[in-house]
Amino acid sequence: MADLTFRIFPELDSTNTFALNEPDLAEGTVIAADSQGAGRGRLGRTWQSPPGLNLYFSLVLYPSLPKHLWGGFSLVAGAALADSLSGLGLVPNLKWPNDVLIEGRKLAGILLESKNDRLVVGMGINVNQVEFPSSLKATSIKLLTGRDWSREDLLTRFAGKAVKNLQIENHGQFAQVLSAWRAWDIVLGNKVTVLRGNDTVTGTAVDIGPGGELVVEEHGFLHILHSGEVTLQKEAE
Ligand code: BTN
Repeated sequence: MADLTFRIFPELDSTNTFALNEPDLAEGTVIAADSQGAGRGRLGRTWQSPPGLNLYFSLVLYPSLPKHLWGGFSLVAGAALADSLSGLGLVPNLKWPNDVLIEGRKLAGILLESKNDRLVVGMGINVNQVEFPSSLKATSIKLLTGRDWSREDLLTRFAGKAVKNLQIENHGQFAQVLSAWRAWDIVLGNKVTVLRGNDTVTGTAVDIGPGGELVVEEHGFLHILHSGEVTLQKEAE
């Protein structure tokens, strides 16, 4: 099991960009920044990253699993974070592939990127921020618990758990990881619409594939989805 090495910066453009491009980063390196000038979210979105409030960090791994299975790491990261949050007394929900929601509001997001043999798992977690633009439908650990939290303590806790579980997944224990993810999942068994570029798929989310793919059944046809934005039918109503 790799030890964690923390490199903490006052500001970076994006911890993911740094973690992808910096040479010679060992497995288990955690790149964290107090703020990001160009924080990135999934599907080309911006991740607002003001200073002094939240956690923005990226984990570096060199998986031995074949690349077509790397999507599974996305679920592992979400499940690890959900486990850690439940240890704080919160009740998280996971929306495929790895949105972390509490009471229907977004608490954290995860962005997986890779370059050559390096996998970077970026996590943005709202910790002590209490005001958000209403369009974001966001929440924070402070809003949910009524008190400030030490970001240093949470960083150690969240990064440690995530790296541990990511390494378990890397040893082929997908079933174990999937059962952790299912414990928090709000998608499987539900009617969903999945937006993929200009395309939408509407059907029932029936399973997760070995590379973390969402399987959606539409009129008896199975769609195997590698990415996309899920809306639960009850959200849309
Ligand atoms: C999402 O839900 O769209 C994913 C958001 C991921 C944000 C984190 S913050 C740390 C890391 N660096 C980035 O630029 N993005 C990720």
